[in-house]
Amino acid sequence: MTAAPLVAEAAEAILQAVGVTKRIPLHGRDRGRAVHALNGVDLTLRRGQILALVGESGSGKSTLARLLALGDTPTDGEIRFAGKQVRPGRRADRRAHFGRVQMVLQDPFSSLNNLHRVRYILSRPLRNFGRTSPAEIEGRILELLERVNLTPATDFIDKFPHELSGGQRQRIAIARALAAEPVVLLGDEPVSMLDVSIRLDILNLLAELRDRDGLAMLYITHDIASARYFADEISVMYAGHIVESGPAEQVTQEPKHPYTKLLLAASPNPDRLTVGTEAEDVDVDVDEKDLAEPPNLLAEPVGCPFAHRCPDAAPVCSATAPPTHSFAAGQLARCWLYDS
Ligand SMILES: Nc1ncnc2c1ncn2[C@@H]1O[C@H](COP(=O)(O)OP(=O)(O)OP(=O)(O)O)[C@@H](O)[C@H]1O
Ligand SMILES: [Mg+2]
Repeated sequence: MTAAPLVAEAAEAILQAVGVTKRIPLHGRDRGRAVHALNGVDLTLRRGQILALVGESGSGKSTLARLLALGDTPTDGEIRFAGKQVRPGRRADRRAHFGRVQMVLQDPFSSLNNLHRVRYILSRPLRNFGRTSPAEIEGRILELLERVNLTPATDFIDKFPHELSGGQRQRIAIARALAAEPVVLLGDEPVSMLDVSIRLDILNLLAELRDRDGLAMLYITHDIASARYFADEISVMYAGHIVESGPAEQVTQEPKHPYTKLLLAASPNPDRLTVGTEAEDVDVDVDEKDLAEPPNLLAEPVGCPFAHRCPDAAPVCSATAPPTHSFAAGQLARCWLYDS
């Protein structure tokens, strides 16, 4: 059963995954087998909105981001930009896409080259995307630094990455992404490697970019509490399936899928982003084993992949793929519980 649109005619759809499946073939001893990384995924990023993609390790979040960035080809399904299919195999599509869709990665320590100053790091994408005069490039670099709140910009332009804190480095990584003047930012866990005390600052900066520049944003995270605080919509991913999606408020206040309920129970403290200790960052008060046993991604998906961990599982759940149910306000859940 295919999912209905994520939200009823909200903002303009910019970047979409439509029925996207990804099989990753294995080598060596597992030759001939494949990881079922994504299974018929639908996702829509809209202008001026942040969509949080939440799910545990291995659920397929980065694989989906890679496909949305045209870094890889789907096994089945389409990536669409402004309603039109784009393909990584086409040079013209790739070139146009790289200017419009930029990624911000998890680790600001490995993503910036320590041998180069900020000026050089930010000048490269500016040159690649058509700015040529040195004066224009210098002016634009200063503007970018101000835009990510590294002020006064002249204090930062000649720094090396190793002279900056983790939060400042992530701001440079964001400025580098903005240099291409994209309309979409794909953030793959953009704050998870930063000190808890500065995560909120970076999330606020991203929210500012959404508000001021109307960027569409994908915010990948393990942390549904930060998604609740930060995102307009949430899609919850489990074993390569979107199991629930909808407005952030709705999904976190009235979760429908048992997996979403477990994630929320494991992450009960919405103030977590504002506190400063690592200890509080890992407060989990559900039975750890509820969330511990991973699904088998090598087997062809049959039934619901969450069935073996689900407190509400019925015999049908492990036998037949669940239908997708629509609730009020565009909330969707892929679950047998709501079959009537
Ligand atoms: N190159 C690869 N070869 C084999 N398996 C892969 C490869 N890349 C990803 N996978 C598998 O595909 C599945 C999805 O991986 P992915 O990195 O998308 O998960 P994720 O949700 O981003 O996880 P995390 O939260 O740990 O970053 C995992 O089972 C992973 O092991
Ligand atoms: Mg990942």
